[in-house]
Amino acid sequence: MATEAFQDLIEISASDRVFVLTGAGISAESGLRTFRDSNGLWAGHRVETVATPEGWEANPELVWQFYSQRRREAQAGQPNAAHYALAELEKRIGDRFFLCSQNVDDLHERSGSRNMVHMHGELFKSRCEANCGAPIIEDSHSYNFIREIPICACGSRLRPHIVWFGEIPLEMTRIQQEIDRCSILVAVGTSGAVYPAASFVHWAKVRRGAPARTYYVGPEAPLNANAFTRVILGKAGEKLPGLFQPGEPPALPGRQ
Ligand code: APR
Repeated sequence: MATEAFQDLIEISASDRVFVLTGAGISAESGLRTFRDSNGLWAGHRVETVATPEGWEANPELVWQFYSQRRREAQAGQPNAAHYALAELEKRIGDRFFLCSQNVDDLHERSGSRNMVHMHGELFKSRCEANCGAPIIEDSHSYNFIREIPICACGSRLRPHIVWFGEIPLEMTRIQQEIDRCSILVAVGTSGAVYPAASFVHWAKVRRGAPARTYYVGPEAPLNANAFTRVILGKAGEKLPGLFQPGEPPALPGRQ
């Protein structure tokens, strides 16, 4: 691992494919709190209380209040320069760009990112806890002042469309495929403490074919820092704009 704090550039050739993994740190400059910067508490709650199936069973009202607060915070936040830098890169290199976010907010979409997945779910969606077959619904409602839990048409409770601790992340087949074919992996603002996302940098090196070039961007080295080719220290909103240097696309045959 090389740690660099000077002028950084990630050169992207016309044949490179870029896989970006983002974590809570990319939304920090939009005013959204990260998880691990407050003594193991998350907005005053133990993670086990508000972000596990057991916590939901024990106190679903508290869980809905917690995610309602997260919804309000995300609605108040605006995408920052780091979100826009990734959307701009996607515009320039098209489907050679793939974004996997651990974040449940919608700031990537609001900045223009399209080719992306939310592996830990989406804050503004809800679903039937019994998996009755009803579609996942768009839901930006804040349930804080409602005593009752929202109910699905089948009579079961609606829960946040969030992957809690102990549950299986979403879109893993597609994520694995995109890691297998990327040549550059960039992780931004994630502590490297939560798996499987913390393993992606390893997967990008041990897959068949040449190992990908791997970069981390954030103000401090993550727990898995040693696995990266380079760690670029700094805030995402300051480092990402100007970080990527995509080469020109190959000239079409016969074009002047
Ligand atoms: N720019 C970039 N990174 C930042 C910034 C910033 N301005 N500010 C803080 N960070 C970094 C911190 O240094 C830290 O490494 O963001 C990281 C935040 O770490 P976590 O709070 O652990 O967030 P994350 O890694 O996304 O958590 C993973 O855990 O709680 C679950 O499901 C939840 O998706 C989440 C997962």
